Amino acid sequence: MATGHEKVETNIGLMLILIIIIISIGGLVQIVPLFFQDSLTEPVAGLKPYSALRLEGRDIYVSEGCGNCHSQMIRPFRAETERYGHYSVAGEFVYDRPFLWGSKRTGPDLHRVGDRYSDEWHRVHLINPRDVVPESIMPGYPWLAENALDDSYIQTKMTTLRKLGHPYSDEEISAAPGELANKTELDALIAYLQGLGIELQVGR
Ligand code: HEC
Repeated sequence: MATGHEKVETNIGLMLILIIIIISIGGLVQIVPLFFQDSLTEPVAGLKPYSALRLEGRDIYVSEGCGNCHSQMIRPFRAETERYGHYSVAGEFVYDRPFLWGSKRTGPDLHRVGDRYSDEWHRVHLINPRDVVPESIMPGYPWLAENALDDSYIQTKMTTLRKLGHPYSDEEISAAPGELANKTELDALIAYLQGLGIELQVGR
């Protein structure tokens, strides 16, 4: 007579169903509590949704491929916190869709670069990095200073993000194109960088 275990081992259909049940339980036990843990879903104190200008800057960061050389994720190790500051926590990324954590670090991590340099430093550095860091291998992005910012999608972007829970008011959305007027892509990118990780810059 076949034992219970033998029945499972000799019946692939039954085995599949049981495997799916077991994996589902394991998955649910790991995933479901995360939705209810405030430290993972609530913004850290002081975190605001991206302003119109910073939202455009973030998209330029993505489209220029800055993330191919820069991470935005400080790990909780001494070597990292000594260099960059407080390690990154989940509540800092609730308005990041998608996350730009990355893992490639040809250049330094940028998660706490906000307020570290002046706007002017970034301007010079982004146009030609070697003007401020002679040994830099980062490419220059001089066209960003010449391209006027395109404001045609900003309201759609903000309305879409609002549907996902980013608390933009009607006033902020209607004022958005005005905020982008007479700005270059470089202005937007610098505004984005200057706000990175400033909420948890302890001891700086
Ligand atoms: C090919 C790799 C590469 C790419 C692509 C790249 N960087 Fe860099 N980046 C570096 C390296 C290397 C450094 C360190 C030397 C220096 O400061 O220039 C650096 C430094 C920086 C710094 C100074 C960080 C600090 O803490 O001193 C900023 C800010 C920065 N990059 C922003 C950007 C932005 C924004 C983009 C996209 C427009 C970009 N980088 C694209 C390699 C890159």
